[in-house]
Amino acid sequence: MVFTSEDMIPLDMPTVWEAMEKCQSLGLAKSIGVSNFTCRKLADLLSHAKIPPAVNQVEINPVWQQRKLRDLCSEKGIHVTAYSLLGAIGVFWGSNAVLECEEVKRIAQSLGKSRAQVCLRWGVEQGGSIVVKSFNRERLKENMEIFDWHLKEEDKERLSLVPQKRLILVHPFISPNGLYKSHAEFWDGDV
Ligand SMILES: NC(=O)c1ccc[n+]([C@@H]2O[C@H](COP(=O)([O-])OP(=O)(O)OC[C@H]3O[C@@H](n4cnc5c(N)ncnc54)[C@H](OP(=O)(O)O)[C@@H]3O)[C@@H](O)[C@H]2O)c1
Repeated sequence: MVFTSEDMIPLDMPTVWEAMEKCQSLGLAKSIGVSNFTCRKLADLLSHAKIPPAVNQVEINPVWQQRKLRDLCSEKGIHVTAYSLLGAIGVFWGSNAVLECEEVKRIAQSLGKSRAQVCLRWGVEQGGSIVVKSFNRERLKENMEIFDWHLKEEDKERLSLVPQKRLILVHPFISPNGLYKSHAEFWDGDV
C-alpha cells in the first residue's frame, strides 16, 4: 500500500487500547502488547490502561541499546523484544552500522564468532527476547548457534560505551505538512 505522510491522522490510543483490552477480556487474545513505543508513549499508555502491555517490540542493537526504555519496561513488568539486532542490513530502512561497528568486529575476531552472532548473543544477554530474520539456510543456522557460549564481562562493558544512534528512522512518516515534522518529533526526542 502506498501512502503519504499527509494521509496520517493522530492515533486515539485510549480508544484503541480499550478495544484491545476487550479482546483480551473476551479471550480473543491471550496477551496484548505494543511495538515501537518510546518511554513517553508507554507512560501515556500506562496512565490510562487497565491491562498494561505484555510486551514492547522495539529496535535494539549495540548501536541503539535503549537502556532508558528497557529500564522503564523492567520497572513496569513489560517484556521487551528486540528487533533489527543486526541493524536490518540489506533491508531498505536498515544500515550496516551495527555489523561495521569496530567493537563488534573486534569481539567477533577475538571469540572466533561471526559479527552477527556477537550481536545476537549480546541481545540475548540483555534479557527479554530477540527476533532476527534471514532467508538464508546457512545464516539461519549460524544465528541459532549462540546459546552455548557467552560474552566476556570486559567486552560487554566496552559494548556499553558504543556511541548511540537510532538506526531505524521512518522517512515516509515525516513531512513538513504532515503529523510528524521530524524524526525527533516522531520518536519523542529519542533519536
Ligand atoms: N515491530 C517492528 O516495527 C519491526 C520492525 C522491523 C523488523 N521487525 C521484525 O524483526 C525481524 C528482524 O528484524 P530486521 O529484519 O529488521 O533486521 P535484522 O534481523 O537486524 O536483519 C535482517 C537482515 O540481516 C541479514 N542477516 C540475517 N542473518 C545474518 C547473518 N548471520 N549475517 C549477516 N547478515 C544476516 C538478512 O539477510 P538474509 O535474509 O539474506 O540472511 C536480512 O537482510 C523482522 O523479520 C520483523 O519480524 C519488526
